[in-house]
Amino acid sequence: MHTSSSHQATLIDGKAYAAALHQRIRQDVIDFHELYGVTPGLAVVLVGNDPASEIYVRNKALQTHHVGMRSFMHMLPETTSESELLDLIKQLNADPAIHGILVQLPLPSGIEPHRIINTILPEKDVDGLGEVNVGRLASNRPSIIPCTPLGCLLLLRDQLGDMTGQHAVVIGCSHLVGKPLSLLLLAEGCTVSIAHIHTRNIEALAKQADILVSATGCHGLVRGTWIKPGATVIDVGITRLKTPDGTSRIVGDVAFDEAVHVAGRITPVPGGVGPMTIACLLENTLTAARLQMKESSICT
Ligand code: GUN
Repeated sequence: MHTSSSHQATLIDGKAYAAALHQRIRQDVIDFHELYGVTPGLAVVLVGNDPASEIYVRNKALQTHHVGMRSFMHMLPETTSESELLDLIKQLNADPAIHGILVQLPLPSGIEPHRIINTILPEKDVDGLGEVNVGRLASNRPSIIPCTPLGCLLLLRDQLGDMTGQHAVVIGCSHLVGKPLSLLLLAEGCTVSIAHIHTRNIEALAKQADILVSATGCHGLVRGTWIKPGATVIDVGITRLKTPDGTSRIVGDVAFDEAVHVAGRITPVPGGVGPMTIACLLENTLTAARLQMKESSICT
């Protein structure tokens, strides 16, 4: 019934959802300040001068200001050593004005991301990528959840409500998105299949999905024929394509023009999952600040 070309899936408007989330966070920041006399602060660290990362980092700082939080940017040269970066993280860990620390990935070769991420105090790890937060998520006791998976989960809950018994297929198994999102969907009661580069016949697996998530960065991977009619499709991919006229455009993993005639609901790229990532980073900064306030009141 959803396969005719006249059928149009419902577009999941991540931009509107993120705007509403920003509005709520702005009020929460005011309430937090009234309660504790403290403004939540987020430190973002960028090493090197990758142009895409620079845009992401500046956008994060801008949005942090917009919701009334304090933003601390650290732009370090490509030549920064691992021990210099570790020293900065330790300094940020000890700074009471900073409640969240995000180190933009990827890091230049020569710096071990694992060591850097695990030096961030778990209660300031707003990316939720350190071993303590990953372990808490895997143990069904999450405290800080990685931003993009959290954004996907909020959109899915809003669209579908109870997901118990749904078959979710997640394509991509990265630490940043695929693995944590699979755990979150499992906790929602979904039957979860994780597909990756070695998975055989991904198309047949994808076609079984009630909820299909693609997070590979491989644009156009998911064709219309991969989608079960009426399924909910979440496209996490972001690829910048150069157009012949010298401009560029952002596309996702899903062949949108095909998928929109088959899926029941679908996130567009841009304007789907992307805006949710920053909104969830801000939400995580508030969560981190709350965790630290609770801890300091336990200590005193
Ligand atoms: N680079 C691309 N996405 C992310 C993210 O969510 N967090 C960090 N730290 N770096 C990224």
